[in-house]
Formats: sequence, structure tokens, C-alpha cells
Amino acid sequence: MTTNYPKRYTVTSALPYTNGPIHIGHLAGVYVPADIYVRYLRAMDKDVVFIGGSDEHGVAIPMKAKKEGVQPQAIIDKYHGIIEKSFQDFGISFDNYSRTSKKIHHETASEFFTKLHQEGKFIEETTDQLYDPVENQFLADRFVTGTCPKCGHEEAYGDQCEKCGTSLNATDLINPKSTLSGADPITKSTKHWFLPLDQYQGFLEEWILKGHAKDWKTNVYGQCKSWIDDGLKPRAVTRDLDWGIPVPVAGGEGKVLYVWFDAPIGYISSTKEWATREGKDWEAYWKDKDTKLVHFIGKDNIVFHCVVFPSMLKAEGSYILPDNVPANEFLNLEGKKLSTSKNWAVWLHEYLEDFPDQQDVLRYVLTATAPETKDSDFTWKDFQTRNNSELVAIFGNFINRAAVLTHKYYDGLVPSPTELLDSDKEILAALKAYPKVIESSLERYRFREAQQEMMAVARLGNKYLADNEPWKLVKTDEDRTKTIMYISLQIATVLARLAEPFLPFTTQKLLAILNTDTDSLVSWNAIAENDEYLKPGHQLNKASLLFSKIEDAQIQIQLDRLEATKKQNINTQKEITEQKPIISFEDFSTMDIRTGTILEAEKLPKTKKLLVLKVDVGLEVRTIVSGIAAHYTPEEIIGKQVSVLVNLAPRKLRGVESQGMILMSENTEGKLVFINPESTLPVNNGEIIC
Ligand code: MF3
Ligand code: ZN
Repeated sequence: MTTNYPKRYTVTSALPYTNGPIHIGHLAGVYVPADIYVRYLRAMDKDVVFIGGSDEHGVAIPMKAKKEGVQPQAIIDKYHGIIEKSFQDFGISFDNYSRTSKKIHHETASEFFTKLHQEGKFIEETTDQLYDPVENQFLADRFVTGTCPKCGHEEAYGDQCEKCGTSLNATDLINPKSTLSGADPITKSTKHWFLPLDQYQGFLEEWILKGHAKDWKTNVYGQCKSWIDDGLKPRAVTRDLDWGIPVPVAGGEGKVLYVWFDAPIGYISSTKEWATREGKDWEAYWKDKDTKLVHFIGKDNIVFHCVVFPSMLKAEGSYILPDNVPANEFLNLEGKKLSTSKNWAVWLHEYLEDFPDQQDVLRYVLTATAPETKDSDFTWKDFQTRNNSELVAIFGNFINRAAVLTHKYYDGLVPSPTELLDSDKEILAALKAYPKVIESSLERYRFREAQQEMMAVARLGNKYLADNEPWKLVKTDEDRTKTIMYISLQIATVLARLAEPFLPFTTQKLLAILNTDTDSLVSWNAIAENDEYLKPGHQLNKASLLFSKIEDAQIQIQLDRLEATKKQNINTQKEITEQKPIISFEDFSTMDIRTGTILEAEKLPKTKKLLVLKVDVGLEVRTIVSGIAAHYTPEEIIGKQVSVLVNLAPRKLRGVESQGMILMSENTEGKLVFINPESTLPVNNGEIIC
């Protein structure tokens, strides 16, 4: 493979909204792949800056603040702190982690806007926008939901449908509703600044559709193509809100920049902040054609990073465009979509309480199951298996054996090899090939594949020891044993180098065992040029375990927790229907409710829900049609005692006359249960369902 390396790299990862902590979906989709990529680039001695930060102007932030009765500042301070700590804890090695509430960002975003404004790149227009007549507020973005005109999803937001990813104007929504008051919006006119994306149609066709058909991931390219083919429309880049960066031009009083206008500029501000601190020139990282710009994001951010932000950069004129936007699809948890509001997630700060010092296990599993080409699923069982049968049984076992045996036979000194057999030479040749193999996967953003290749090196070592059995050979052939241990330690050293981007914490432990450090370690590129990576006579440190087995009981705790969340969600999410008008006691007492016994039950043909029952109500045997077939089979209910409303006017249901009604209730799992006069079954909310 011949690679033309650029002079430097600017790698960004989506700036998370600071209205909640982050979970495994964020790590798997964005931050772990980005971190692997930059660690690899650093190992290649590349000039790279890895940019992150918090996105603090999202409209969900003031919404949350209002709900909790606090200031938005309190919300962003709290979650910025939690998120930044999670990133540090998981070894996400940003060169700079900033915040969009900082002065440097407000200035950078304002200057950017002002420049486009002065150069006439915006359309300034007064149009009718959605307005909440109850809350007296304009409705855009998350303040309004409705049906997506593209895919029909019923809960699309005013700026984007999260189902199909399309970016929308609030007025595009079908049946819009205010999320603040639930009111039907009215329209009211207001002035805004629009970025005329339609004028960038040709540029985007050329740059993406022609230019990146081959090298962008198909999921990313496909989405872009669909939007571009649909035809782009002007988009408002300002809002009538009080949370955000004030519109810096005349006539913009009381208005702020749209969060998706300011946030990506946050990458630039964060780079400036870093450059000032490190004495670097930020412009080289954003304006030099020989810089490779890569944005790591989740799939819901594609339109903003591939269409909107590049059009902004193009309009400004002096910036480079992203070389690639390797967006991932979504990660599910135990088969269900991750959800912050439903607490269906593994929160990073909580994971560390249950699995302290096991960051690499999570990094490893998330990379192994990363949603690179389609949505994927994280399960605790898989987490356990990958830890126990891959990290412990292969990687850990190999290193442990190599270190322990070296201590046992040679007091921890790397032995000198004697004669190398062909099989030994083959191993050394194979080792030399791995950096390029892994590099080829990483350069194509195939992190799962790259990690598998790294593990292949651990497998190679483990197999080499298992095949050669030095623990037996040591009794008969000391020379050969020395060679085997020498080769094993060479493999371990190469493994330390290649594993570092994926398993940075483990690598530090491994380097401690090998009694070396990252700086003295053979560089990524030098592996192919050398035959020896750890010299004979080098003293190892004491062996310690790199990974430990995860027991069933630990996994069960996690599964139980999710089960509890599920139950809680069923309870809290039951719709509370409004109470009907009050009735008098007289009205109530006109109902004649008696105990009956179900004598016969059969399905009403050609229906899904209906059973025809024969019920003895004391007076006589009544025929009653009941909609419970989805909950019970006929056999289950024969002989059951039930409460029956016997004086309800008879009614024909699918041709059968029903002479009364069985009274039922819904239990906590949503199943219909009989209001059995003789039992004390839980009646959920007192609502009787027929
Ligand atoms: N805050 C956004 C999200 O979580 C991502 C912003 S990325 C940036 O979806 F480009 F705007 F910075
Ligand atoms: Zn949609």
C-alpha cells in the first residue's frame, strides 16, 4: 500500500450537549474510534491535533433548566464537568477540550457570522414562523415536533428528523405541536438570517457526489446524496431565543445564532485555544491545503457536518473542507435503542463504579461491536464473553505466561536466543507485517477490523507458547527454551506498540511489566525495519495480571438493573387519561354488577381480539363477547370467577349479541386481569377496561 500522508491532521469529535452525562453509545459511535485514530497517528509520529469540547447552546439546555428550576449556567457547568471527567477516565486523549460558552468561542463565532454578513452571504428575510400562543414564544428546533415530510416519522423536531436524519425548517413539519405547551402553533412574522444552501448545491454535488463517492462510508455518502438530490433550501441560522450567542449585527437584538451554526465553529475556537497555549499556529490546522481534516460524529450529525458546516466554510472562503466524515450508525443496548430520557443506557460514570479500572474492557467491546456500517447491539453477555475468552484467555494469558516464565527461568532477564528455526523466523516476519495491515484498516476507518488484527498478534503469541510448550521443554532443552522465551518477549513488545491505540491503559501496565515506556518502545514504523524489539539481558518487572475474569454475578447485577428500568418505564409511561365528568351516586348505583363463572369460551372466527364467552351470572347463562383474546386463550379462563355488568344494553359485535360486560383491569405489565371477586389481584390505576 502506498499512502500519501498529509503534512498534519486536525481530528475533531462531536461536541456533546451538556444537558446530560454520556453513555456507551457516545463512546462507541464517536469518541473511541476518534481516539484510536489519533493515538495511531501519534504512534506514526504525525503532527495531529485532537479537538473536543462541550456544546452548550443546545435548546434542550434551557428547557432542562426551566424544568429543574435552575439557571442554564448551572446545567452546563454540572454536565460539562461530568462529561469531561468521563472522557479523561476512558483515556480519550484530546489535545484540547473546550466549551462553547467560553469567550474565545463567542468571539470566533461572532466574527465568522459578521464576515459572512458583511460579504452578503446571508439572505435577510422576514417570514412567518411557528409561534406558541400560550407560552408567547417562537417555536423552532426542539420546541416543536411534528410529522417528518420526508419519512413520516411523527416525532421529528423543528430542525431535524432524527429518524431519517433530514434537516428541516420548522414550517416543513406536518401537524406541528409545541413541546412547551402542547398547543397548536400559530404563525407570526419575524426576521432571520438564512444561509442559502440552494446556492451551494453545485458545490456540494461536485465535492461530495463526484469527489467522495469512493472514500466516504456508504452510509454517509448515501445520506448526503439523498438530501442533495432532493434539492437544498435556504436555512435560518438565527433564532428568537435568549440562550445562545447574540446575533452580532444590527437588527439582531434579542436574537441568537442557531446552535448548529455556532457549535461546529467550536472546533475552530477549541483549536485556537490549544494553539495559544502550545505556541502553535491555529490557522495551519484549518487553512493549509496540506492539512487533513476529519470529523468523527454519530449519524444524526451527518447533515450538519457534510452539508451545512462545509457550506459555511466554503462561504467564508479561507478554510479547508473535511477530508472525511466517518460517521457511525447507532448502538443499541440489549436490543433496544439507547435513550437518555428512558434511562436505557450504560452511563460511563456508573460503569466505572461497577468495573473500576476496566476502561479498556469497555473500549475493546465497544470497538468489537461498533456500529460501523449498521446499527449494532451491546449486550452484557457479549461483554463478559469478550472479556473472558478474548482479553483474559488470549491477550492476558499470553503476556502472563511470557512474563512469569521469564522470571521463573531467568530471574526476569530477557534470554539470548540460540539458533532460530524457520518457524521462529516466520513469526518474526509475520510481526513485521502487522503495522501495515492495521494501518490499512485504520486509514479506511475500519476500527473493528483493525482491532481484530491487533488481537491476531496476541493470538500468534499465545499459540506460539502453546505449540512450543517451554514449560515442558525447559527440562530437556535449555537452549531451545531460551529462544522460545526470547521470541515470545519480542511478540509481547510489538503487541504493546500495536495495542496502545485500542487499549491504552493495558498498554501502560504491559510496559511496566516489560520495564520500558512509550518513548523507548519501538515506533510503529520501525517494527518492519527491525528484528529485535527487546534486548537480551533487559530486566523485566514483576508480572501482574492485565485482565481479570468477569463473573456471572457481576453481569446479573447489570441485567437486573436494566430489568428494573424496564419496569419503571412501563409504570411511568402509562398514559394517564383524563378523568371523565363526575357521575352521581344514583348514576353509579344503576349499574348491576354480579359475580359470574365462565363456563365456555371460544374464539370469534376471523377476529384477533374477541372471545365469545358463556357466563353463568346466577340469573341465567349469558353470552358475552369480550376483547381479551390477546391476553388469554379460551382454555385459560374456563371456570374463572369474574365480575360482570349484567344490565348493560345488549349490543351486537361482529354478528354476535353480547349480553353484558366482563370487568377487567390492567396490571403493571400491561396485561388485562380479571377483577376477580375472590382474589386480591393488583388493580393498577383503578381504571376498568372492558
Ligand atoms: N451537540 C451535538 C450532538 O450532541 C453535536 C455537535 S457537533 C458540532 O448531537 F459540530 F456542532 F460541534
Ligand atoms: Zn424523517
